Amino acid sequence: MKTQQHDEQHEAGDVAADRVRIFDTTLRDGEQTPGFSMDRRAKLRMAQMLESLGVDVLEAGFPQASPDDFAAVAQIAESLKSTTVCALARCQAGDIDSAARALEKANRSRIHVFISTSPLHREHKLGMSKAQVLEAAVAAVEQARERCHEVEFSAEDAMRTEPEFLAEVFAAAIAAGASTLNAPDTVGYMTPAEIAERFAWLRAHVAGAERVVFSSHCHNDLGLAVANSLAAVEAGARQVECTINGIGERAGNAALEEIVMALKVRGVYFGADTRIDTRKLYPASRLLSQLTGQNVQRNKAIVGANAFAHESGIHQHGMLKHRGTYEIMRPQDVGLAETKLVLGKHSGRAALRQRLQALGHAPEEAALDAIFARFKTLADKKREVHDEDLEALALGQDPDA
Ligand code: KIV
Ligand code: ZN
Repeated sequence: MKTQQHDEQHEAGDVAADRVRIFDTTLRDGEQTPGFSMDRRAKLRMAQMLESLGVDVLEAGFPQASPDDFAAVAQIAESLKSTTVCALARCQAGDIDSAARALEKANRSRIHVFISTSPLHREHKLGMSKAQVLEAAVAAVEQARERCHEVEFSAEDAMRTEPEFLAEVFAAAIAAGASTLNAPDTVGYMTPAEIAERFAWLRAHVAGAERVVFSSHCHNDLGLAVANSLAAVEAGARQVECTINGIGERAGNAALEEIVMALKVRGVYFGADTRIDTRKLYPASRLLSQLTGQNVQRNKAIVGANAFAHESGIHQHGMLKHRGTYEIMRPQDVGLAETKLVLGKHSGRAALRQRLQALGHAPEEAALDAIFARFKTLADKKREVHDEDLEALALGQDPDA
């Protein structure tokens, strides 16, 4: 039996109230979606990157799903040192046994048991009554707590569940030994104001709430996953479940990098932060893209190619005077070398002069005027004017020659 009294205290009480735990599910909820599957080697590589990023809990997979999933979770559990390794299980004895065996070699293990609680899922997916769901949840938490260091309980489709029933199931899960309670917005249905209200209500009405960590797990069907996760944090959630690049079922899960940077940049507003090494965010995003062969959209917050790029003359002029004019965080804070002033048809003289100087050219004003005129003609023909083009312009050559 791995669970001990002090483990539960460690989980619920020892961590400062102003710290939000990051529960990464890139390798479980993220990986199980079309286009993002990874082989065992890729999963291990990603898991090691996530550990160096500093995630608190890493959900490595669903061991009962397949022998390969089992092996991947076991390999990750054996390899990670400081991160809690988590495995998913339905509230079924076989699932919990698989999860426990896969996690055997973890320094710190968590079994994440889940069952649907909403009326729609109870009737059409499970064919179970409220009492049966409650009984299955309690039995699962009791079984899991004997086989790992800590147990998380999730009420799938929690946000479409009757709040009173959800509170009853959560209270029973606490009494059975769960130390983290996750209330997922499984279908991405909520708005930020609603989700904040629901978390506040649960914290006030679940018996034993003060002994556990409340967790949010938001899907992005309406593009609100990150906003909803942050609203849950405002209402007292102290674990956020998320994925790198926001990959996940349908429109995805809440994007880890966006939540982490929102909490860092607006830490005073939220009164809470994470322990993520934010300088590893960009490398983690790139690694996931390489391993899955799926690119991130250019305008994606934090890690997209345009996140720290400026093309318009007005913005470039402002940036050259004071970077705070158009940037609220430094690219170096997320692991990018520098801001990019892209030279294109919207750029102005100031950015052109700065780039020419960086390339070792210092034209007089009249010469700059002439280069600028030729630059604009060229920029009308090309999406981006590169350094080689500028060299040619500065030397009076034809860039197209
Ligand atoms: O979205 C969801 O409800 C889930 C649960 C298994 C936590 O992924
Ligand atoms: Zn999910």
